[in-house]
Amino acid sequence: MFKSMFLKLAIVGILSLLVPAVLYAAGKHEGLNCTGCHGIHTAQGDIIFAVEPNKKVKNPRTNKPYTGVTALCLGCHETIENGGMGIIPVSASKSHPYGVVPNPKVANVPPSFLRSGELACVGCHDPHPSNPNYKYLRVDTEGGADMQKFCVVCHSSKADVEVTKIEVFSSMDERKASHESPLVEKPAKKSKSKKKKR
Ligand code: HEC
Ligand code: HEC
Ligand code: HEC
Ligand code: HEC
Repeated sequence: MFKSMFLKLAIVGILSLLVPAVLYAAGKHEGLNCTGCHGIHTAQGDIIFAVEPNKKVKNPRTNKPYTGVTALCLGCHETIENGGMGIIPVSASKSHPYGVVPNPKVANVPPSFLRSGELACVGCHDPHPSNPNYKYLRVDTEGGADMQKFCVVCHSSKADVEVTKIEVFSSMDERKASHESPLVEKPAKKSKSKKKKR
């Protein structure tokens, strides 16, 4: 009897150790738990970012470090040698351009996708856990199977897709949130000392 109880406790113990690790390893920003990106009282950068902006890796277009949100993403998503944390590093020299003022001949970028006039990481990704799309892209590409639908947002003359009806995901306007107020008031518990009859 003692043995089986010990086993149960051991299993519960192992599970509680595994659960957070599994969540993190799921490969999603959920595991960052808001405060992994936003340092509430200990911020290192703009939008109260918890991670220091990457000041090391250079933008091949300008030969200067990246700025704004791009530098924040690269605080994690670059190699350690390049000033990041080695979390799925995206390499600037072999990547689709980011941190660039778009040449309108190459890309027609909707203004809401630009930050300080540049195409930042968030022009293509909305990194919030609420984004259900593949790789946090702003457009649903059906798990990556219909990537044209995403590219067409800025490169419409290249793709064979209806350009007028593309739904774009954005978490940046709370007024457009689909839920009603989640608040439910919880009455205060009566304190034990009051319950006792004197
Ligand atoms: C605090 C560190 C951190 C920051 C900052 C950060 N990420 Fe991530 N990101 C992660 C982690 C951790 C993962 C999951 C890694 C794994 O799967 O191994 C991840 C995964 C991703 C993925 C892949 C998701 C998938 O479904 O496979 C994308 C895309 C991504 N991040 C984009 C961004 C963008 C864009 C930014 C900036 C707006 C950003 N991240 C900022 C830590 C970070
Ligand atoms: C991967 C990093 C990451 C995670 C995790 C993350 N955020 Fe963000 N957050 C950002 C970035 C980057 C922006 C700026 C996005 C932009 O400019 O489009 C932002 C913007 C915001 C803003 C808007 C600021 C403004 O100026 O309007 C709020 C509010 C916010 N986040 C809250 C949250 C909450 C709440 C969570 C957890 C549910 C969370 N964030 C998780 C990276 C993150
Ligand atoms: C032009 C649009 C665009 C820009 C700008 C962009 N990305 Fe991406 N990103 C994508 C697409 C598309 C994918 C999915 C590629 C695939 O699955 O083949 C992706 C995938 C990723 C992944 C997952 C890679 C993997 O192997 O799972 C990460 C992490 C990521 N991006 C981070 C970033 C960061 C950080 C920035 C800015 C420094 C950035 N992206 C800028 C379009 C973009
Ligand atoms: C949010 C807008 C946006 C999206 C979505 C987008 N791009 Fe781009 N793309 C750009 C910008 C901006 C540039 C750089 C233009 C310039 O040279 O100034 C660019 C440049 C390019 C280039 C030229 C690269 C070079 O080095 O000259 C290619 C190729 C390209 N994009 C392919 C794609 C593909 C494929 C997709 C879909 C997976 C995609 N883009 C999605 C904005 C976008």
